[in-house]
Amino acid sequence: MIEFEINGRKVSVDADPQTPLLWAIRDEIGLTGTKFGCGIGMCGACTVHIDGQATRSCITAVGDIAGLKVTTIEGLDADANHPVQEAWRNLRVPQCGYCQSGQIMQAASLLQDTPNPTDQDIDDVMTGNLCRCMTYPRIRQAVREAATAMSGAQNQ
Ligand code: FES
Ligand code: FES
Repeated sequence: MIEFEINGRKVSVDADPQTPLLWAIRDEIGLTGTKFGCGIGMCGACTVHIDGQATRSCITAVGDIAGLKVTTIEGLDADANHPVQEAWRNLRVPQCGYCQSGQIMQAASLLQDTPNPTDQDIDDVMTGNLCRCMTYPRIRQAVREAATAMSGAQNQ
């Protein structure tokens, strides 16, 4: 059994330690918001947070996260009202939506590390999250809007 925390809940997974975390999340735990894209760490669809850091769950062995804290799109905010999610909704960022949970998790991590990112910061961090529907301009705009909302909240 491999034990870790996911979205604030302790879980035990009976899986080979080499199993990709993505499959444990989707198939064992039943949280399907995290998506499979490439399976080789190249597209970002499977991005989750591990101890707060954006991580590609398709190339992370579940055995390596024993005792750590995983956050998926379902746990980013209990009511899906994280400022990044609000900005995504305001600007209607998604098209087909498939890549978007990974985009949001990556953006949330970016803003945690860099609260006031420049366009270059946004591009540098978000470049590894691919979108077949080419929503990149709206993603960049939404990251900026979320950054403004988050800095406003901090100044209140
Ligand atoms: S599915 Fe993990 S990076 Fe593409
Ligand atoms: S919204 Fe369709 S792949 Fe990104």
